[in-house]
Amino acid sequence: MRALDLVHDTIKKYIKPGDICVDATMGRGYDTSYLSELVGEKGKVISFDIQQSALDSTRQLLKDRGQSNCELILDSHENMCKYVEEDSVSCILFNLGYLPSGNHNIYTHAKSTIKAIEAGLKLLKKDGIMCVSIYYGGDSGYEERDELLPYLRNMDDGKYQVIMASFYNWKNDPPIPVFITKV
Ligand SMILES: C[S@@+](CC[C@H](N)C(=O)[O-])C[C@H]1O[C@@H](n2cnc3c(N)ncnc32)[C@H](O)[C@@H]1O
Repeated sequence: MRALDLVHDTIKKYIKPGDICVDATMGRGYDTSYLSELVGEKGKVISFDIQQSALDSTRQLLKDRGQSNCELILDSHENMCKYVEEDSVSCILFNLGYLPSGNHNIYTHAKSTIKAIEAGLKLLKKDGIMCVSIYYGGDSGYEERDELLPYLRNMDDGKYQVIMASFYNWKNDPPIPVFITKV
């Protein structure tokens, strides 16, 4: 099983047609497209990335797939509260790291990721889910992982449930999918 399959299978239980979802790291648009399918024509996906090439690829993917319920925003996910109403979102996805087939020097960083997680928790509905997939390895991502893991472990257990999945016997820098719900 890929991390992506685990994430997609898990989040679909939390999303119904007509819902609003956020893709905090749009990249090439595959997660945005998956969310778009789940929320359907009456729903909406709001997606963020700081790179124009991510928006261009995503726009093309959505066009090819005939999906028109997504708003693509060129801004850091830290600022998502400017664009999305509080307590309105069923699912927020973070897929950390760099843009596949893009510039490896532009990637997510713990400080802004943590600000974005905190912003996202304000937007998330009581019965919603946030998923943060921590990708690291090769030339980047270790520092972000090392700051994020203690942050996640220390989240208030009176307010949030944090579940982490482990690819336990995978030797080379396995991704870490983390699921956060409100209690
Ligand atoms: C691993 S990719 C995401 C892959 C994507 N989910 C997909 O389906 O193709 C990570 C993305 O996060 C973006 N990113 C980095 N820092 C960001 C920030 N502060 N706000 C929003 N996106 C950011 C990168 O530009 C990159 O496109």
